[in-house]
Amino acid sequence: MAEAPERNLALDIVRITEAAALASARWLGRGDKNAGDGAAVEAMRNSFGTLYIDGLVVIGEGEKDKAPMLSNGERVGQGAGPLLDVAVDPVEGTSLLAYGRPNAISVVAVAPRGSMFNPGPSFYMQKLVVSKEAREVVDLDAPVKENLASVAGALGKRIQDLVVFVLDKPRHERLIEEIRSAGARIQLQTDGDVAGALMAVDPRSEVDMMMGTGGTPEGVLAACAIKGMGGQILARLDPQSYVEKEAINEAGIDIREVLTVNDLVKSDDCFFAATGISGGEFLRGVRYSGKHAVTHSLVLRGKTGTLRYVESYHNMDRLSKISAVQY
Ligand code: FBP
Repeated sequence: MAEAPERNLALDIVRITEAAALASARWLGRGDKNAGDGAAVEAMRNSFGTLYIDGLVVIGEGEKDKAPMLSNGERVGQGAGPLLDVAVDPVEGTSLLAYGRPNAISVVAVAPRGSMFNPGPSFYMQKLVVSKEAREVVDLDAPVKENLASVAGALGKRIQDLVVFVLDKPRHERLIEEIRSAGARIQLQTDGDVAGALMAVDPRSEVDMMMGTGGTPEGVLAACAIKGMGGQILARLDPQSYVEKEAINEAGIDIREVLTVNDLVKSDDCFFAATGISGGEFLRGVRYSGKHAVTHSLVLRGKTGTLRYVESYHNMDRLSKISAVQY
């Protein structure tokens, strides 16, 4: 594993998520998923060029739906400085952005080279995310009701007090039924399980835990944030098609293994930044106030657990004179 980076890279990568959010926010509610994503990808790729890192994209995004992407294996940064694995999701929640729904965010995480889980051909992963108080009491193989009871106990609540974040997908019909019959409450969202995971570990959010199957890359990204905020993600690959299952088997990846936050990101020396594109519970979306565009970001350092909220005022006149990207 490479030498640990000494500076707080989260303060560098937040400029990248800000750029992607600024570029893609222009597409809010305009019904064009690829245009919003494409704008974010271009801005992100451009901003990475300014960073003194030797980055390798391990978690790129887009392959499952052929969206514009920063590809896995792509090198980013100036090619000098700390050797890093890089995880990106220029727009996490492309449909949320396209239809003007809450919680579309732009996300980047970095960690020492070799420390991030490589999803290979896996697109989908079952996930259970809880805050640090409940990190020792959950079990991916336990019945839903049992996990709810354990989390409620760890949080000093009753099951009916809990709010579970679940993606609103047909594959979760049974899970939703089980949560309801146990008496817990549910926050059903069409997309955005990185935001769901962040809410599950953030004590200020009304969400207590996240359950269900979402993207594998999103699971690794979420794990980088969970390292910083404390908490746990338990995950297992959960292929949604025969082709995906076969590809995972052929790659020699054990489909039954339960992965923890430390399997998904082996080093504590990781950094995470997310900027709101459309406004949500924990990050505000991009706002325009005449002269300025205002962004709101979350910045985390895994090693120290320092969490910063950054509100930036971007002077659009000045930016337009020097920026390669049109905001
Ligand atoms: P995109 O930004 O790629 O559209 O991903 C949104 C998302 O909802 C993720 O948060 C989640 O992990 C994944 O899609 C679930 O995939 P699917 O919509 O195919 O069930």
